[in-house]
Amino acid sequence: MSCHESMLVDINDEGTHPLFRDRDCLACHDSHAEDNSGFTKKPVKEMCLDCHTSIKKTLDTIGFKHSPVAEGKCTACHNPHGSKLEYQLLSQPNDLCITCHERIITTTDRKGHIVMESGNCLSCHTSHYSELKGLMVGKDPALCIQCHSDNTERLTSVHRQPIDKISACMSCHEHHVTEKPGMLKQIGHDPFTHGNCEACHES
Ligand code: HEC
Ligand code: HEC
Ligand code: HEC
Ligand code: HEC
Ligand code: HEC
Ligand code: HEC
Ligand code: HEC
Ligand code: HEC
Repeated sequence: MSCHESMLVDINDEGTHPLFRDRDCLACHDSHAEDNSGFTKKPVKEMCLDCHTSIKKTLDTIGFKHSPVAEGKCTACHNPHGSKLEYQLLSQPNDLCITCHERIITTTDRKGHIVMESGNCLSCHTSHYSELKGLMVGKDPALCIQCHSDNTERLTSVHRQPIDKISACMSCHEHHVTEKPGMLKQIGHDPFTHGNCEACHES
């Protein structure tokens, strides 16, 4: 153990793998040379999923999978030994997601959704997999209404109806960022884009 003492410095952190904390190195490593990089007993994907069977089972059956998870790149997001963060994450979820999805915050003028701007991806997305397309945590409009639930006068008046009577938000709004204020989609029916709601709705 003395050779790897420096790795144990953070051993009591919340984000330490229990086997690493227990110094059960041989649960994952072979003491002799192995074919796998890092001298792990098996390739990382197989090894992690052999113990994390509920993740494996879900991956086998669920509809939508995050590609690095499906490919078994567990160590792209988790430090196998542990980190200072919960769930052994390599960085805060905000930064973690952006390392691979930087394009999302750099392609527009950044008139974006505030939750998105603060990088809080996990308020709308799951990290591993989902029953819903796009790795969503909820469906439109429930997903949006959970935060925009207050039938404030302002919301009711811009929409010409109470927010909870609307059947879909994404028919008019973008999800991440747009060039237009109010996160509206670029293309719209002419009277709609000119704010002439009265052409069709009672005011
Ligand atoms: C939960 C499984 C697991 C446990 C337990 C574990 N390791 Fe690892 N270890 C890994 C994986 C996975 C890698 C990285 C393999 C890769 O990505 O190539 C690794 C890499 C390493 C490396 C080489 C890379 C580095 O980080 O410097 C050393 C040395 C190492 N582990 C030592 C230890 C020691 C000592 C213990 C026990 C205190 C231990 N490991 C416990 C999974 C584990
Ligand atoms: C020998 C069995 C074993 C292996 C191999 C293993 N784990 Fe674990 N892991 C456990 C156990 C047991 C726990 C604690 C109970 C639990 O949360 O499932 C745990 C906990 C975790 C946690 C924290 C879960 C929480 O709720 O806080 C993460 C993250 C994790 N493991 C990731 C990995 C990754 C990534 C790998 C592959 C590098 C791996 N594990 C390999 C047995 C294993
Ligand atoms: C794209 C990044 C990413 C990848 C790749 C990834 N994870 Fe995670 N994982 C997370 C994040 C973020 C959390 C904590 C928040 C959450 O639960 O969504 C988490 C939570 C966990 C947990 C604790 C909660 C639970 O679901 O039990 C375990 C265990 C875990 N991951 C294991 C794995 C294993 C095993 C793999 C590889 C098959 C893997 N992860 C691949 C990002 C990732
Ligand atoms: C290691 C690189 C990596 C990291 C880290 C990562 N992703 Fe991904 N993600 C991908 C790849 C690759 C794809 C598939 C190709 C694409 O759509 O860009 C993807 C696709 C997605 C999709 C689209 C899924 C679909 O079915 O359309 C969402 C949503 C997503 N990631 C969210 C996240 C979130 C949230 C995080 C942070 C917890 C995250 N990603 C972290 C690599 C990564
Ligand atoms: C307010 C909710 C919300 C937030 C916050 C959010 N997203 Fe999304 N994201 C969505 C919706 C809705 C979709 C479209 C899903 C579908 O139907 O395919 C989406 C789609 C995606 C896709 C698929 C490609 C695309 O652009 O359509 C990726 C990748 C993605 N999000 C990554 C992220 C990352 C990374 C973050 C954090 C920086 C993030 N999202 C924050 C709602 C959100
Ligand atoms: C986690 C909470 C949360 C979720 C989920 C959420 N929002 Fe928001 N949204 C906010 C906050 C906070 C603001 C900024 C204050 C405000 O305008 O209410 C905001 C602002 C907005 C704005 C005004 C942007 C501007 O430039 O004026 C629109 C439009 C919007 N959200 C639409 C949506 C849509 C569509 C969804 C579903 C895909 C959604 N939101 C999901 C929290 C959320
Ligand atoms: C060209 C006619 C027309 C114009 C102009 C128009 N609407 Fe509508 N709108 C409709 C019709 C028809 C429906 C009901 C059918 C549907 O849900 O698509 C509707 C439905 C809606 C809904 C409910 C959507 C849902 O998913 O439940 C909202 C909110 C709305 N309109 C707001 C507006 C606002 C705000 C404006 C002005 C910026 C506007 N409309 C301009 C014709 C119009
Ligand atoms: C028929 C089109 C339409 C639909 C459907 C729609 N919106 Fe809007 N929304 C608008 C328009 C138009 C505005 C005003 C944009 C501007 O000019 O800033 C707006 C503005 C907003 C704002 C900003 C309000 C402010 O204070 O400026 C929020 C938040 C919002 N919508 C949320 C939602 C949510 C949540 C849903 C689904 C429950 C939804 N919208 C469905 C057209 C729509």
